[in-house]
Amino acid sequence: MAGGRNEQGAWPQVVKTKLKTGGFKLATQTKQAPSSIHNPQSSARIPLRWRKEVERILITDEQIARRVKTLAREIERDFRGRELVVVSLLSGTVMFLADLIRHLNLPLRLDFIGVSSYGLGTESGELVFTKELRLDVRGRDVLLIDDILDTGKTMSRVLPKIHALKPRRLKTCVLLDKPSRRVEKIRADYAGFEIPDLFVVGYGLDYAERYRHLPFVGVLHPHVYQP
Ligand code: IMP
Ligand code: MG
Repeated sequence: MAGGRNEQGAWPQVVKTKLKTGGFKLATQTKQAPSSIHNPQSSARIPLRWRKEVERILITDEQIARRVKTLAREIERDFRGRELVVVSLLSGTVMFLADLIRHLNLPLRLDFIGVSSYGLGTESGELVFTKELRLDVRGRDVLLIDDILDTGKTMSRVLPKIHALKPRRLKTCVLLDKPSRRVEKIRADYAGFEIPDLFVVGYGLDYAERYRHLPFVGVLHPHVYQP
């Protein structure tokens, strides 16, 4: 499982560095083990009703809002003069998609692909398509959106399917990128935040279909998935 204490029993702390590309790298730095009780600064920011389940906020709603705007500017610049077909993967993209496209000053059409991973817990399992694309993307500029690029298995299944429909251009955009877990040779054209190997929820991302509605990206308490 992702995240948790390391061999020395310390919790990895997240350190944020601004990247030249405009994104942020959230790297881990191991410090002395603070539980959320001994770390009032981080727990203070978690709304009371989530404190038992969310260990800490990794990315705040303000940080997300700022980054989504700059991502939209990059996409606009790259697709200027074109009409986009935005293809969004269900269901983790709901919030990211809604915020991103409201900042996109481009003509666009929107469609969804449903993919479900029937794995247990926090590991991804077998991929099943639950909704197929309906719009014709032949000769079109397509932007494929997902919530997080983790092992890359989802993207590596979806991308060939869209490529086969002969779009003029196909780019990928994810809110989060977890490069340390990658098993497929794949990278996103646009990525909001690079994060360490932690299982995160909120802003669309779920654990067992829960926590999608949290306005921030947070790290779950391990007791939630390790009863
Ligand atoms: P991949 O196929 O391993 O790249 O994983 C992509 C999918 O796994 C995402 O669309 C998410 O649904 C899920 N996923 C991966 N990491 C996380 C996480 O940290 N929190 C919640 N869902 C995740
Ligand atoms: Mg999911």
